[in-house]
Amino acid sequence: MISDVVSIKRQFTLDDGSRCELQNFDGGDLDNVHALEVRANPYPWSRQNFIDSVSNSHICVGVKVAGDWCAIAVFSIASGDAELLIISVDPAWQGKGLATQLLQLMAEQLEDYAAELFLEVRASNDRAIELYNRAGFNQLGVRPSYYPAKNGREDAHIYGKTLRIG
Ligand SMILES: CC(C)(COP(=O)(O)OP(=O)(O)OC[C@H]1O[C@@H](n2cnc3c(N)ncnc32)[C@H](O)[C@@H]1OP(=O)(O)O)[C@@H](O)C(=O)NCCC(=O)NCCS
Repeated sequence: MISDVVSIKRQFTLDDGSRCELQNFDGGDLDNVHALEVRANPYPWSRQNFIDSVSNSHICVGVKVAGDWCAIAVFSIASGDAELLIISVDPAWQGKGLATQLLQLMAEQLEDYAAELFLEVRASNDRAIELYNRAGFNQLGVRPSYYPAKNGREDAHIYGKTLRIG
């Protein structure tokens, strides 16, 4: 199974000197992971979403600084392509390049298993869209009225990035 293969353990340092550990999270981390998600994301995943991802062997990773989770992301792999299902950075840690580093390191990790990395993002999520553009993703399409929103519905933008040629 892919997630047994994709065991993640990478270190990096932010510009402010914080020493970060990118690693897998599992069922024992869900209280802290879900609490981070609720703090970070105006449309948070439910605890059940995380339970489903852990039990469906999605690639569940996060970044720890001094033992505390600061960022989380979940990826799936199917038919030779990867999908980023969620990425969230604790508000106290946003704007320091954490998501950029997490995406870069995971793109390197996943290239042995997936040719492309896809994601969907709310059309209004300027910050995330800027992140994906800077990280080398290209917009591939739009799913009209895909997400429920505060007032009605909003479009999803579909982005993709090539991980491996050939
Ligand atoms: C979108 C999100 C994941 C970005 O995470 P992040 O760690 O803040 O992203 P980065 O720091 O890598 O880049 C974001 C900003 O920090 C700036 N930045 C990057 N590296 C930096 C550094 N070394 N020092 C200071 N600022 C830096 C970037 O220029 C960028 O600035 P901008 O806000 O003007 O675009 C985060 O805002 C979040 O969790 N949002 C809520 C959940 C969400 O919307 N997820 C995406 C769903 S598709």
